[in-house]
Amino acid sequence: MSRSAHPAGPRHADVLPEGHYTAPPADLNALDPKVWSQTVGRATDGAVTVAGIEVTRLAEEFGTPAYFLDETDFRARCAAWRDAFGPGADVFYAGKAFLSRAVVRWLHEEGLNLDVCSGGELATALSAGMPAERIAFHGNNKSEDEIERAVSVGVGRIVLDSFQEIVRVAHIAQRLGKRQRVQIRVTVGVEAHTHEFIATAHEDQKFGIALADGLAAEAVRRALELDGIELIGIHSHIGSQIFDMAGFEVAARRVVGLLAEVRDEHGIELPEIDLGGGLGIAYTSDDDPSEPHEIAKALNEIVSRECEAAELRVPRISVEPGRAIVGPTAFTLYTVGTVKPLEGLRTYVSVDGGMSDNIRTALYDAEYTVALASRRSDAEPMLARVVGKHCESGDIVVKDAFLPADIAPGDLIAVPATGAYCRSMASNYNHVLRPPVVAVRDGEARVIVRRETEEDLLRLDVG
Ligand code: LLP
Repeated sequence: MSRSAHPAGPRHADVLPEGHYTAPPADLNALDPKVWSQTVGRATDGAVTVAGIEVTRLAEEFGTPAYFLDETDFRARCAAWRDAFGPGADVFYAGKAFLSRAVVRWLHEEGLNLDVCSGGELATALSAGMPAERIAFHGNNKSEDEIERAVSVGVGRIVLDSFQEIVRVAHIAQRLGKRQRVQIRVTVGVEAHTHEFIATAHEDQKFGIALADGLAAEAVRRALELDGIELIGIHSHIGSQIFDMAGFEVAARRVVGLLAEVRDEHGIELPEIDLGGGLGIAYTSDDDPSEPHEIAKALNEIVSRECEAAELRVPRISVEPGRAIVGPTAFTLYTVGTVKPLEGLRTYVSVDGGMSDNIRTALYDAEYTVALASRRSDAEPMLARVVGKHCESGDIVVKDAFLPADIAPGDLIAVPATGAYCRSMASNYNHVLRPPVVAVRDGEARVIVRRETEEDLLRLDVG
């Protein structure tokens, strides 16, 4: 690596500290389509554009930090998932990744269903007109109020997560004079290759009922005995940000194994299986996610093969991608405030947001990339760490990134692939106000979730 143009910045590759980076990219101005949404590019003046709008204009109109969500890209991903699985299967978008009323309307228009996991998500879905029968209600500890509301409005399915919940939902439904369609979530004992906090199919964690020791079979027995519920299938979600299809294959095999056991014991072929979400996306150019049609093909094949072997009718399959739909559709735009070169280490580039708008780096050691967005630069690459404005040294947005060495206060920088689990996990830490989500499409931008204000903060603080 040649000299950094920064007066006191890190200078040579041989003095670079350890980190998750290799060599700087050949062209710092390039925007890898793997990590940026489909309408992102650069204008002739060098500014990043999305849906034909320059980020400099977006920053002026909407301020920073802000998430910009590429609606065209979002809809295209919905369509890709829908078409990959076809009319014989159901795609439930996992609302926890990011949910707003505009998103609910897009999902509805694109023919997707919706997975919600709290009363708040259910309320958002209903208020934007998602038909209740297209909603699946999840959660390991749904409250009685939440269950009552879900049953009353007629959600398509409730995914039962424990023995207690089987009884709880059945009783509530019976009291309301309803028969609620349910699935039972099982843990299949797969060690998914992802961060410990987002792996969910091993046995020592809070979700689901283990297939091991016959527990799931016992759960099926109990569910079949209760009048308030109609057991329609088995659910498995093995974790999140997974690239390797092997875990899904094992899960599918084991779930089909349970269907066969149920058939043998009760003479019933449960009509549905849900294989959850969890498909990984590219946060950096090193990630290589599968396409929805590859995933659909792999899952359909394994389920068909296993069913054939067990002489079972092939059940209707559903999946619940969240991140794989919304993750790549948005970037976060920040304004650079302070640039602090640490000799022999790296340059700290502080932005006007941080761990309150993206907790994933601090929580999961997640990797992101970053690009200078307000202009093009031909300056030398400089090893940087993009940090926020919070009072915590773990407040890191991008741990290891190369930025042009002439980066300066007032520049706009953009972090791609922040559509999933960034706004939805945003906090008010340090009473920093949560950024808006702005949808952009065909040269137009509109706020779909507005920026939080000091009035919002003070309204909750009732003294
Ligand atoms: N279905 C169920 C039952 C889930 O629990 C989840 C995610 C999904 C579907 C969607 O998974 P996805 O396709 O989005 O990976 N906050 C973490 C991710 C937590 C995922 C929780 N459950 C992160 O930022 O990586």
